[in-house]
Amino acid sequence: ERDIYILAIESSCDETAAAVVKNGREVLSNVISSQIALHTLYGGVVPEIASRKHIEAIDGVITQALQEAGVTLQEVDAIGVTYGPGLVGALLVGLAEAKALAFAVNKPLIGVHHIEGHICANYIENKDFEPPYMALVVSGGHSHLVYVSDYGKYEILGKTRDDAAGEAYDKVARVIGMGYPGGPKIDAAAKQGNPDAIKFPRVFLEEDSYDFSFSGLKSAVLNYVNKQKMLGEEINPFDIAASFQQSVVEVLVGKAIKAAKGKGLQKIALAGGVASNSALRERMKEACAKEGFQLSIPSPILCTDNAAMIGCAAYYEYLAGVRDGLDLNANPSLKL
Ligand code: KG4
Ligand code: ZN
Repeated sequence: ERDIYILAIESSCDETAAAVVKNGREVLSNVISSQIALHTLYGGVVPEIASRKHIEAIDGVITQALQEAGVTLQEVDAIGVTYGPGLVGALLVGLAEAKALAFAVNKPLIGVHHIEGHICANYIENKDFEPPYMALVVSGGHSHLVYVSDYGKYEILGKTRDDAAGEAYDKVARVIGMGYPGGPKIDAAAKQGNPDAIKFPRVFLEEDSYDFSFSGLKSAVLNYVNKQKMLGEEINPFDIAASFQQSVVEVLVGKAIKAAKGKGLQKIALAGGVASNSALRERMKEACAKEGFQLSIPSPILCTDNAAMIGCAAYYEYLAGVRDGLDLNANPSLKL
């Protein structure tokens, strides 16, 4: 059988990324140009700045990805690109580039859903990992429990009703003065704090629901900080970080295990930026070992936004015969 090479492009938020992926699971290059330092100045991602920076970075990132892979544009079998969800201006940069390249070398264009990309990150290092499984997708924009019955077949069992898990991390970090992006900062701070110091709520919602809600927890942290200030008491940011994180992780792990059991599955996969959280990885490993589930977690670099995961997803779309036209448009609220 012939080898299939996919050039993949990702620009949905604040990373400009390109990768070359061979036969779906072999990453030949994975180049990421991060804008995080720039957005840190503003305490979050500024969409207009993100679009401009993508334009500046994208050609160089793609050239580097091809060079590192030792593959020419003509040798690529298809071009995969994230076309939603995300920031529309940011998405359009990657998509326009992908269309131009596909047209120039007359190769198929394959649009990829960003969340599908995150899920497929699990196939890259774990060569034997296959559907069916339960995926917990937790990022800055999403908190989904997705039943993956087969390649490209997704059923959303639950999602957040308000803030995404990563969004809660980012907002709480701001409240305790840790800056953007909050996830990695809280992860590090929590290691020096006591997770049982403050009793924050665990929001499990209705007994039979796989939905999440993190805005109440975020408000509880804010109320706690304000109350301490009013009383003239010191706040301990390490204890707050550890206690907040424990609350998030308990809910995520509890619901993922319950959902996997509910569907009678043997495997669980983590995905998205928050899946690089050390406490979530630890607790999930413990719970899966105890309950007898096989667990897949990508390396942290494949959890946060990257193009290798998009290349992997595009490969399975390619096998399924998906081909998009040059009229493919960016869709900021694309459904899975
Ligand atoms: O998947 P991602 O790179 O972008 C989106 O698709 O949203 O996820 C970014 C999110 C941010 O909210 C960031 O704070 C969070 O993932 N994050 C973390 C960690 N690293 C990144 N959250 C908790 N612990 C981490 N170590
Ligand atoms: Zn993402």
